Amino acid sequence: MNGETTGNFTWVPGASGIAREAGALLREFYEQGVETEYKGDVDLVTVADRTAEKLIRQRLGEVFPDHGIYGEEGTRERLDGEFRWYVDPLDGTTNFAHGFPQFCVSLGLERRTPGIRPEEDGTLVAAVIYDPLRDELFAAEKGRGGELNGKPLRVSRVTELAEALVSTGFPSRKRHQSPNIHFYQEFTLRSHGVRRAGSAALDLAYVAAGRLEAFWEFNLNPWDTAAGILLVDEAGGRVTDFSGGRYRLESDEVLASNGLIHGEMVRFFEDLFAGRNLNPIPTPAEWADARKAAGR
Ligand code: IPD
Ligand code: CA
Ligand code: CA
Repeated sequence: MNGETTGNFTWVPGASGIAREAGALLREFYEQGVETEYKGDVDLVTVADRTAEKLIRQRLGEVFPDHGIYGEEGTRERLDGEFRWYVDPLDGTTNFAHGFPQFCVSLGLERRTPGIRPEEDGTLVAAVIYDPLRDELFAAEKGRGGELNGKPLRVSRVTELAEALVSTGFPSRKRHQSPNIHFYQEFTLRSHGVRRAGSAALDLAYVAAGRLEAFWEFNLNPWDTAAGILLVDEAGGRVTDFSGGRYRLESDEVLASNGLIHGEMVRFFEDLFAGRNLNPIPTPAEWADARKAAGR
């Protein structure tokens, strides 16, 4: 096992054990191969997602009996309490189902002060993201910094988008309503490259670890982002919506970065939404015409 967490953490030690247990379960299913079911369009789910959520639900209930749980596979428990875990038992199901080695368990803890309105966000206070194939455990607590396998997490020092490696993802529901491919194109032309690795939680963890300078996506859910955005925050980065406004867990937009390229990215989003300063590229038909003209 890689390094344990070392920080002066309150909830991370208990949650790390649970994430490691769930991760070990995912690894077993991954090695033996699982059948895939469809939740809709290309939204996949497997027995691994459900079994891991069941295990996490049971173990969180034992370790933190007063805490609520809000899980992707349907768990809704004790949501009127002060603490609430957002649980993605398997982030990267499409990768998992295809044998592509990029997925994780994500656990994010929100503290909701008594009397808070249901539609208001509380404060994210703890985060654990575990990648069982690399045995990498990303953890953080509010005001106490973050760690990757016991070593401090720090965002990168790159100051320009032109020198950045960034990432994004695409929804598995209502794919035809997402404009993100246009953003993908423009960011590809203005950065060192855009990765689409298929696990939003790991993308956020990688921003926190300085492996990526930024990540953006439309229409994520709180179980995808709760842990990752605290990791980015605690590693010295910044998380907002696409206009630079406060990120909310129910937000349709997440933009996370090392902080240094955040302003440039927000201005670039403004340009994209206004259709300004776009880089023209040939259409496939124009390219085919040019190929014909060149006698190829
Ligand atoms: C998905 C992954 C993916 C992102 C999708 C998410 P899931 O989560 O995080 O990277 O692009 O929007 O739904 O379904 O594998 O838990
Ligand atoms: Ca997810
Ligand atoms: Ca999931």
